[in-house]
Amino acid sequence: MGKRRSSNKQSSSSNSNENGLSYQQVTNMSIEDVEFDEAAECSNLEETMNEQSGQVQAIIGSDKTSADYYFDSYSHFGIHEEMLKDTVRTKTYQNVIYQNTFLFKDKVVLDVGAGTGILSLFCAKAGAKHVYAVECSQMADMAKEIVEANKLSDVVTVLKGKIEEIELPVTHVDIIISEWMGYFLLFENMLDTVLYARDKWLVNNGIVLPDKASLYLTAIEDAEYKEDKIEFWNSVYGFDMSCIRKQSMMEPLVDTVDQNQIVTNSQLLKTMDISKMTSGDASFTAPFKLVAERSDYIHALVAYFDVSFTKCHKLMGFSTGPKSRATHWKQTVLYLEDVLTVCAGEAVVGSMTVAPNKNNPRDVDITLKYSLSGQRCQVSRTQHYKMR
Ligand SMILES: C[S@@+](CC[C@H](N)C(=O)[O-])C[C@H]1O[C@@H](n2cnc3c(N)ncnc32)[C@H](O)[C@@H]1O
Repeated sequence: MGKRRSSNKQSSSSNSNENGLSYQQVTNMSIEDVEFDEAAECSNLEETMNEQSGQVQAIIGSDKTSADYYFDSYSHFGIHEEMLKDTVRTKTYQNVIYQNTFLFKDKVVLDVGAGTGILSLFCAKAGAKHVYAVECSQMADMAKEIVEANKLSDVVTVLKGKIEEIELPVTHVDIIISEWMGYFLLFENMLDTVLYARDKWLVNNGIVLPDKASLYLTAIEDAEYKEDKIEFWNSVYGFDMSCIRKQSMMEPLVDTVDQNQIVTNSQLLKTMDISKMTSGDASFTAPFKLVAERSDYIHALVAYFDVSFTKCHKLMGFSTGPKSRATHWKQTVLYLEDVLTVCAGEAVVGSMTVAPNKNNPRDVDITLKYSLSGQRCQVSRTQHYKMR
């Protein structure tokens, strides 16, 4: 135990969903290590560009400046390449669409945050009557070219702009499809954009794909990595940098956890029904009880999510959990101040509170309350984290 967690290469060949759902799985393909910053979003682009105007002159390619790319990471093809190469993600969407053409035949589809337009292309191939592909970044220009190159312009219309600002040429759509999930499910807060589109354009009895998303929690042994990432700051070349340790404790770490590190069961924290929920439902407090499956030490709690497409002929979806094939979302690790010496059968109980940050709703504030009243360890503590 105590191994440095694995890279984002496939660390588990398990095809079973750790949450007991019987998903139709994607084919077994390897995933390249994916490392990118999803934080920049087009909603801030205009303001930032105005602030920056005249300051950045470096020309990259045709008419793009380095500012375009710095402040709007979705404008660069690299992030789309990485998402497309996340085969768990992209193949699941493809299978959902191609294996359920009865959902799409002659239907009007809205693709919220279309990127390269990949989901729109799938929907067009599946027989959709028309697909509106809305994308706010510069990638919308590429999506238009891609649609033309694939001779699907009569079915797919790319609209460049924010969902919250564009006008659709139709009053209603039958299906909303989107890949909106961020790290820890809710980082980036694109879910609000999907809910906005749903409330504005979706017909009664329309379909949102995916329509369910669930957040889970488990606990891991992680001595070596905690030492490397957190305790490191206590003495750096002999100097006390523990003020940075405090910061590093507050920032959840997005990384891949080896399933051998898992010490407890997994607890479902929250399931969101995207077809019914309100924006406020993404703020919640959920209790948890994590029962140790062996005697070990616990250094961190680990959050991950799954998404489901329940309107398919057979339930489909994917998990980003440590026992499933790796995705670019990896898992989210929250280190604990205390090392919990837990005996098999004992439970770490507590609650997790999740809410968008008040100043920047794209960031997520997390409060963790946990306690262990065990034979060898009695601890009770509250910790605050911020995903940013
Ligand atoms: C996670 S990517 C998914 C891209 C593509 N659908 C795919 O599956 O490869 C989300 C995309 O949504 C876009 N986006 C985010 N917020 C948006 C908004 N409010 N309006 C329109 N597009 C948005 C981003 O620029 C980004 O390209």
